[in-house]
Amino acid sequence: MIESIAIVGATGAVGRLIRQLLEDREFPCKKITFLASKRSVGTPITFRGEEHKVQLLSPDAFNDIDLAIGSTPDDVAEEFCPWAVQRNCVVVDESGFWRMDPKVPLVVPEINPEAALAHQGIISSPNCSTTQMVLAMKPLHDAGKIRRVIVSTYQATSGAGVQGQADLIDGSRAFLDQQDYDYQAFAHPIAFNLIPQIGSHKEQGYTSEEMKMVYETQKIFGDGSIKVCPTCVRVPVENCHSESILVETEKKITVEEARKLFAATQGIQVIDDLSQGEYPMPSTCSDDDRTFIGRIREDLSCENGLAFWCVSDNLRKGAATNAIQIAELLVRSQAAT
Ligand SMILES: NC(=O)c1ccc[n+]([C@@H]2O[C@H](COP(=O)([O-])OP(=O)(O)OC[C@H]3O[C@@H](n4cnc5c(N)ncnc54)[C@H](OP(=O)(O)O)[C@@H]3O)[C@@H](O)[C@H]2O)c1
Repeated sequence: MIESIAIVGATGAVGRLIRQLLEDREFPCKKITFLASKRSVGTPITFRGEEHKVQLLSPDAFNDIDLAIGSTPDDVAEEFCPWAVQRNCVVVDESGFWRMDPKVPLVVPEINPEAALAHQGIISSPNCSTTQMVLAMKPLHDAGKIRRVIVSTYQATSGAGVQGQADLIDGSRAFLDQQDYDYQAFAHPIAFNLIPQIGSHKEQGYTSEEMKMVYETQKIFGDGSIKVCPTCVRVPVENCHSESILVETEKKITVEEARKLFAATQGIQVIDDLSQGEYPMPSTCSDDDRTFIGRIREDLSCENGLAFWCVSDNLRKGAATNAIQIAELLVRSQAAT
């Protein structure tokens, strides 16, 4: 039992869902505090039938809090996580800031749960596009050791938070009404468009989002030899990221074997019947914690290659659900000691 939990970034796209999922999953805590910026102070939030008010994120907000789940921009997480840790509060953080810090475990509970228990105060939850890819990779890696991955993402606007969701809806309306629209979350119009840049410009022509997929994958598997070549694209879809994934394994895995491996993996749902037009799509996979896989086929260009399509709710397993699963690991380990 956690006595007291704080949701940091409680008013955001991920933070709102964390509140809902803590309720749905009956997370064991006696007291809850909702924190955000001064813009949101006083905003009412109902939790388990009781009304709470959003409080200001500040160092002293962590006095007497045991566990915080943070979903704020990177610069905010950089500042607040040490405030929490100094007050003996463990943080499960959704932001990108701490993920590659060697002292901070980066955890997907289905893959490396043991890493969470070796934390030093902060545990990171991966980038949403990484989480669904590594979940799909895991059974193939265990069976045939993945050498190389080529991934192209089709990322929903909810990945850019509340403002990203609003930009898609309001920008689409404005487009249809032939009105101008001032996009806040995107550098280019997203309505009726694709944007082949997510994040900032990084090394060798890749973006920050793409390099997260490279480094986070290696850290989660504890295997720096896995090569990943990503292309991340923002698409005009409200929720759920989709990925076209090609993996090359050391040991050949046939399509039938891959289908069985995926089907036997907890958290993965195979929907794969091209002849009947059945495959995962954002419109059918939203509001679900599972990672959906379809279009499983041999890579015609490479001997030990497999190609497939992967869709997952970026706000749920890509963010809120994964963080809560990490918190549940901590609760279980506390109960066991
Ligand atoms: N969206 C996804 O699919 C997803 C997936 C994985 C990880 N993440 C990561 O999760 C984090 C949150 O993402 P999101 O999509 O929920 O973003 P969002 O909808 O923009 O929400 C951001 C939250 O951070 C709070 N915040 C911003 N500046 C603050 C400040 N100076 N002090 C205190 N609180 C502040 C906001 O509070 P106010 O309302 O008061 O401004 C809001 O609650 C980001 O780091 C993101 O990269 C997101």
